[in-house]
Amino acid sequence: MTNPWRATVLTLFPEMFPGPLGVSLAGRALASGLWQLEARDIRASATDRHRSVDDTPAGGGPGMVLRADVLAAAIDTAETGPERPRLLMSPRGRPLTQARVIELAQGPGPLIVCGRFEGIDQRVIDTRDLEEVSIGDYVLSGGEIAALALIDACVRLLPGVMGKEASGTEESFSDGLLEYPQYTRPQLFEGVPIPEILTSGDHAKVAAWRRAESEALTAARRADLWAKIPSKVPNRPGRRKTPKSTTDG
Ligand code: ADE
Repeated sequence: MTNPWRATVLTLFPEMFPGPLGVSLAGRALASGLWQLEARDIRASATDRHRSVDDTPAGGGPGMVLRADVLAAAIDTAETGPERPRLLMSPRGRPLTQARVIELAQGPGPLIVCGRFEGIDQRVIDTRDLEEVSIGDYVLSGGEIAALALIDACVRLLPGVMGKEASGTEESFSDGLLEYPQYTRPQLFEGVPIPEILTSGDHAKVAAWRRAESEALTAARRADLWAKIPSKVPNRPGRRKTPKSTTDG
């Protein structure tokens, strides 16, 4: 048996883990051993009397910076092999994509450093070769919530975690498009019926409708994703280059 996928998280707040990853899909998979989570306290690597982990920034300025010696020691003691990606959650990192999530889920699982304060000493990022990863253009108070989001995105892709295989592939981003709208009973909700095509039983028509809706949503909301869709170039006959959503009105 190979080792299960494992996330090792270095944080000043280990009590934030597993947090939301302890319930639902990820929680059940964690309990049944499909993946492992190790939250390690960075403060355990502090060496001085006060167990201090941060200090004022060299050159002045506001806030505090995570000390190089403390964080490097935390990384070095946690290190379980060079093959595991070493990530640093940071708003200045490269934006996380589903493609990177898929890669991370296919590997042995990452070591994740959660930043706090104004940042961490650059020398640790350089010497420990940390890959900076952002989950969006907004600033969280620390990397923990970003790490939880990244781990969640990976865990749901692990073999055996998700019930129905199709739900992993037919969703937003797997083909570069946003997901089409979904409906279920009741057939009539506050006077609004389910689109007729979905109850027609014609699978080819349903698939075409969903594709068109996905394309329309992507074109309307995410010009960045839409620009990357190769199937729209050259334009297929009968297909608008920028389709109009039949849902958004
Ligand atoms: N830490 C603080 N903000 C963050 C963000 N947007 N992404 C990743 N880590 C963060």
